[in-house]
Amino acid sequence: MGRRRRGDEVDPASDGTADAERRERQSSLRRLLRDQFPDRNRDKLLPVLHLLQHEHGYLPEWALQVVGWHLRVPASEIYGAATSYSELHLDPPRLRNIVVCTGLACWQAGGDDLLNAARRRPGHGDEFDVTTTACAFMCGLAPAVRISGKWHGRMDAARLASSIENAHA
Ligand code: FES
Repeated sequence: MGRRRRGDEVDPASDGTADAERRERQSSLRRLLRDQFPDRNRDKLLPVLHLLQHEHGYLPEWALQVVGWHLRVPASEIYGAATSYSELHLDPPRLRNIVVCTGLACWQAGGDDLLNAARRRPGHGDEFDVTTTACAFMCGLAPAVRISGKWHGRMDAARLASSIENAHA
């Protein structure tokens, strides 16, 4: 489960390394799973996978690793479940989209500005869908935005505009 996939990419220009961002997201997810699924029972595998699918639009590899640790379920069982249900996806959506985290940490760090900026993108019409998520599990790098499958931490409106331009190129 150590293989990186396109949907797990991070912006190398953001503060910190990709490994640090991955660890931060995994720590946040571990805290959330401890809160919401404290009994660490393998019967919770499907509810946890649906939670991740809802929040990310797919099942990121870094998150599945945390699920395995938390529920004490082997990777083979996780992937077996993930590939058995048509509503669960291992690959990120290919649509050009922007996901703005509107969780508390991100909102307090300027997530509302990012959401407004994402919705205003002059000149790009409807080429990008703009949606929100309740937490991208990278609260320590708030505010967080995903642009076409790639998460960016410590985002601001100017960087968001330039990232949209780059995604457009
Ligand atoms: S509130 Fe957790 S990543 Fe935004």
